[in-house]
Amino acid sequence: MLEQGRTIESDVPRTKVIAVTMATSRQGIGVVKELNKTNKYKIRAITRNVKSTKAKGLKSLKNVELVRGDLMDPESLKKAFEGVDVIFGNTTPTKGWKLFRGSIVRSYEMEQGFNLINQVKIAYEKGQLNHFIFSSISKAKDPLKNDPAPGHFTSKWDIEEYIEKLDLKKITTILRPVSYFENFENKLPGYTISKKVFPGIIGKNFKWQTIAVGDIGKWVRGILSKPEKYKNQSINIAGEELTGVEMAMKLKSIVSSEGYQTSYLMIPRVAIKLLEYDIGIMADWIERSGYGADMNKLKIIQKELNIVPTTLTDWLKVKLENQNKTSNSWSREWKVSQWKLQWDK
Ligand SMILES: NC(=O)c1ccc[n+]([C@@H]2O[C@H](COP(=O)([O-])OP(=O)(O)OC[C@H]3O[C@@H](n4cnc5c(N)ncnc54)[C@H](OP(=O)(O)O)[C@@H]3O)[C@@H](O)[C@H]2O)c1
Repeated sequence: MLEQGRTIESDVPRTKVIAVTMATSRQGIGVVKELNKTNKYKIRAITRNVKSTKAKGLKSLKNVELVRGDLMDPESLKKAFEGVDVIFGNTTPTKGWKLFRGSIVRSYEMEQGFNLINQVKIAYEKGQLNHFIFSSISKAKDPLKNDPAPGHFTSKWDIEEYIEKLDLKKITTILRPVSYFENFENKLPGYTISKKVFPGIIGKNFKWQTIAVGDIGKWVRGILSKPEKYKNQSINIAGEELTGVEMAMKLKSIVSSEGYQTSYLMIPRVAIKLLEYDIGIMADWIERSGYGADMNKLKIIQKELNIVPTTLTDWLKVKLENQNKTSNSWSREWKVSQWKLQWDK
């Protein structure tokens, strides 16, 4: 049964059209795939390069149409948003790594944010758009501890304020994910994940909320099943809340039968700050303030929205299975071209 959108000129039921910005990102791919599975929507996957391998992968999905769009180019967004009922919006702080700057550039993300929200406003005023889901980043448990926050967190929270300024909160759901599990696959020499080593950026005994990036798609699917209830709401979302040692123990419990003793290895903060200063600041923030997902409350909402969060153990098992298909263990080798930290960018 296809979800029915508002019709302007006739009462003929119409399949809802959902635009997904940054559709080739890790989040975007998760959202597009999850919505595609429902067979309820037409998904407009927006990318700057419709010919990339990731874009072609999305195009092969049944309910997906690829559309060119650049968050730095408002006109391309205006076109991409024509006739859509829902927009999933995301922005990126990442703009090519440079010595003494890293890759996180606040002005780059803020410009994308302003362009995105301005075009959401235009689409809403045209009358078709009725729901905007903005993917931000988790705030702290204690609101008084949000500041000082890493720059790329502040950018997203400032974009949230711009949504409010343009009076769009009434049609907006803000999802605020915590750190992805996928960050544990960083390629920093000596600190890559293996059966022996579980690497992380924070001290071993700090509780740290994390989520499988694909679960953001589950949240979008869930929110769209009860849009009226979740408009004008902001939710910090997470799948796990564990210390570094506890995370390493999850991996150890899977591989100990093979004789491995996994331990947690913290990447030195000074190295992180040299490579990507803002990520170092983020690690300080996580230790000082901590992400603010209310894990008990989330359980209730997840039940209501039919979301089964991926556990770290299940995520690790899938990764290990995939690794086993190509090699015998989680490789400790690294490639110079992949010398980068991916934490929360
Ligand atoms: N890493 C974490 O733990 C974490 C946690 C919470 C939130 N986040 C946030 O999640 C967001 C997405 O991260 P990700 O890791 O999913 O992304 P990603 O996989 O690094 O992908 C970045 C994407 O951004 C697109 N892009 C870059 N510049 C663009 C522009 N000007 N206009 C349109 N698209 C542009 C690229 O798509 P094309 O080249 O195809 O256009 C690319 O697919 C970021 O804002 C990040 O801060 C990350």
